Amino acid sequence: MKFAPISDRLTGLGAAKWAVHVEGLRRASLGEPVILLSIGEPDLPPPASVLDKATSSLRAGRTRYAAGQGEPETLLAIADHLTRRSGFRVTPEQVLFTAGTQNGLCTALLTLVQAGDEVLVPDPYYATYEGLVAASGATFVPVPTLPEDNFHVTARAIENAITSRTKVLLLNTPSNPTGAVLSVSEIDAIGDVCERHDLWIICDEVYADMTYDAPFCSPFDRPHLRDRTLAVSSISKSHALPGFRAGWVASHPDVTPRLILVAEAMLFGSQPFIEDALAVALNEKHPEVERLRLAFRERAETLIKSFEGSKAITARMPEGGMFVMLDIRKTKLTGEQFAWQLLKQENVSVMPGESFGNGGAGHIRIALTVDSAILRDACARIRSLAEKLVAAVN
Ligand SMILES: Cc1ncc(COP(=O)(O)O)c(C=O)c1O
Repeated sequence: MKFAPISDRLTGLGAAKWAVHVEGLRRASLGEPVILLSIGEPDLPPPASVLDKATSSLRAGRTRYAAGQGEPETLLAIADHLTRRSGFRVTPEQVLFTAGTQNGLCTALLTLVQAGDEVLVPDPYYATYEGLVAASGATFVPVPTLPEDNFHVTARAIENAITSRTKVLLLNTPSNPTGAVLSVSEIDAIGDVCERHDLWIICDEVYADMTYDAPFCSPFDRPHLRDRTLAVSSISKSHALPGFRAGWVASHPDVTPRLILVAEAMLFGSQPFIEDALAVALNEKHPEVERLRLAFRERAETLIKSFEGSKAITARMPEGGMFVMLDIRKTKLTGEQFAWQLLKQENVSVMPGESFGNGGAGHIRIALTVDSAILRDACARIRSLAEKLVAAVN
């Protein structure tokens, strides 16, 4: 059998990263008391009115083909949402409905880059990014960040990684896995570099509604950067609806028609009743959205307290999102070794930091997707394992 090189390029970029999680799930399915902190699915209920709209719309026959770009009212709802956020007028012509952020990122990358191009990605990065860039044929170029800088990427590090082949900077703020939220001045400094080198910015904003204290800032909201930015997001996290596969790409009006061509080649429209629900999600205020944000913040604080005074683990408060990176370097294990031991000895499933790039080495990523009592229990087990390991080293 002969295949195109795309599946060769993608081989090995997926499943291995999730091996601990898959084993945790397998053990849980056998009835073992595993605490699963390895997947980013919000555990609180989605807004009731969004679910109501999806069902009423489904019953009303909104089950036919949707328009390739998206349904007009949904595009308007997304545009209005971005207008309220940025303070400048975003029009429906600037919006493409996508099957979630992942599909939006894929559409954006396929539209902008190909083999021979380079895509810069701050490291650590979300686990699917390598595959997304590889699918386009472009080269993935990690840009290092440091735990001591709370994993904030600097304009200088980005500039150092630029070559004549660099076409795109793929940003993610708030970040999964690090919880870093880029400030206005950081975005502007990074944007200056992108302007100087004429780079596109793709900004994955799927956690935009989940900042704790630091205000969210997107390059799409900065007047001098918006024309080179493709803002990609969804209601998967903010509204606890990952299964709806409902998101968008917002960009310059001249970019959208190009994105539509690529989107139509892959999917040609979505489910109108889901699009109707997305419009309700964005047009109305839902207490569930704020409840989620507050829950993740409170759990992050609970977690940080659980590691106070630990000589084995450094836990830094994330600035947003639903994850915390724990620095376990003092145990002298890799994140991967620690995660396996934790699962086997303490029945807690977490992601090795290495699954998110070299920048995550010596860390584990905790998803804040269980209530505080369970989280406290999991943290006590993590702390106990780490302290035993450190005692054995010394
Ligand atoms: C940073 C990041 N981007 C994209 C996604 C995928 O989002 P969606 O469900 O909207 O495709 C996730 C999901 O975990 C994520 O963490």
